Amino acid sequence: MTFDRSIKIAPSILSADFANFGQEIQAVEAQGADWIHVDVMDGHFVPNLTFGPPLCKAIRPHIKTVMDVHLMIAPVDPYIDAFADAGADILTAHLEAGPHIHRTLQAIRGAGCKAGLALNPGTGIDDVAYLLDMVDLICVMTVNPGFGGQKFIHSQIDKVKRLREMIGDRPIHIEIDGGITPETAPLMVAAGADVLVAGSAVFKGGSVQNPAPYGDNIRAIRAAAGSA
Ligand code: DX5
Ligand code: ZN
Repeated sequence: MTFDRSIKIAPSILSADFANFGQEIQAVEAQGADWIHVDVMDGHFVPNLTFGPPLCKAIRPHIKTVMDVHLMIAPVDPYIDAFADAGADILTAHLEAGPHIHRTLQAIRGAGCKAGLALNPGTGIDDVAYLLDMVDLICVMTVNPGFGGQKFIHSQIDKVKRLREMIGDRPIHIEIDGGITPETAPLMVAAGADVLVAGSAVFKGGSVQNPAPYGDNIRAIRAAAGSA
């Protein structure tokens, strides 16, 4: 993975057909997805359950772009090697997931993955300062994690602006996760984001049999983001 700040659209397979992940991934990549965002939930850190390392390993061969794994789990550390073995390119852990996020980020890089740090909407950015040299991506949650299709939280725009200033020239992506649509995408790109996760706004109206709407949806978000 080479670093650049071009706008990347990362469909979240949380909104895909769970019986058809392989084909859904192939469809959204053929329709223009830049990364594939994989939401791992444990029913403890967040009030929902999705899937773990075996599913990630099973879908890995279908992903030609970047496998962006968002861990909404606590604890994180016991599972890092399993997700790395499953083929994650990026492993993102939440700042709120435990008392030793510094150790977690070290372990993620130690396992050969890019390290991501996710922040819940209620979390400030002061604690990010001493982690900047350990992260490749900061994920700003613009909904409370757990479910797709929730409403975008506008207070996070200011957080992204401040994070962008804090990051300076460092090669760190700012990823936005939750409620991204053609309406909200430009707000976040203007604030400094370069990776836009979108679940419901990408998968709505389409299917494996009818993937063209995925392309229309991705292009609509990209065009809106480009006008920021
Ligand atoms: C929420 C997940 C998101 C979610 C986004 O906990 O981390 O990635 O799938 O879904 P939308 O784009 O529908 O808000
Ligand atoms: Zn996510």
